[in-house]
Amino acid sequence: MKNKYIFKSKRLGFRTWKGSDLEEMTLINSSKEVMKYFPNTQTKEHTKQFIAKMNKSFEQNSYCYFAVDILKTQEFIGFIGLCKQIYKSNFTPNIDIGWRLSSKFWNKGFATEGARACISYATENLALEKIISVTPAINISSENVMKKIGMHKIGIINHPLLKNDKKLESCVLYEWNFAVHKIT
Ligand SMILES: CC(C)(COP(=O)(O)OP(=O)(O)OC[C@H]1O[C@@H](n2cnc3c(N)ncnc32)[C@H](O)[C@@H]1OP(=O)(O)O)[C@@H](O)C(=O)NCCC(=O)NCCS
Repeated sequence: MKNKYIFKSKRLGFRTWKGSDLEEMTLINSSKEVMKYFPNTQTKEHTKQFIAKMNKSFEQNSYCYFAVDILKTQEFIGFIGLCKQIYKSNFTPNIDIGWRLSSKFWNKGFATEGARACISYATENLALEKIISVTPAINISSENVMKKIGMHKIGIINHPLLKNDKKLESCVLYEWNFAVHKIT
């Protein structure tokens, strides 16, 4: 396929979503291990809606949670990217950077490499002032990605969408200001 990837990092390719991603992303979204820090796993129908929403976001904004492949093997590993968040809180509306990978591909540095590539893509192609990232305080692997790429910790917040879950409600909030922060 011509211009399959919107951008690449050393090991990864970032693209919009295609029909054949549905089965594999559904496996990721329905895994209790992957979704440990979410209130629920997600069904194939949720995943279908998610994929449609991401492609629409890319059409409108030139960003989305990108589908990510390993360049060498062409394996699909999950998503890393940017998404507009409009739920009501004192830190939204905003654009967040997020990641969700199949557990087969954890602990290989892919999330951190991909997050850095997304920030470089945004720096070069999108006129954004800042982005944020939020994760339950107990999701240490996700917070570690924020720390490793050089995001700035704003503090701990109570997440309005996780009010009914005492384990998940307390979240860390990080920020990336394009005028100030440098990729580490
Ligand atoms: C959050 C998530 C994406 C993190 O993935 P991850 O693989 O742990 O993250 P990283 O890319 O930072 O890789 C971690 C480890 O890979 C190791 N690694 C192996 N090979 C590497 C390489 N070539 N380069 C860099 N690191 C490498 C590193 O040791 C690193 O661990 P360290 O930072 O403690 O040294 C993953 O746990 C996930 O998908 N979780 C489920 C979804 C989720 O919770 N998303 C966040 C919701 S807010």
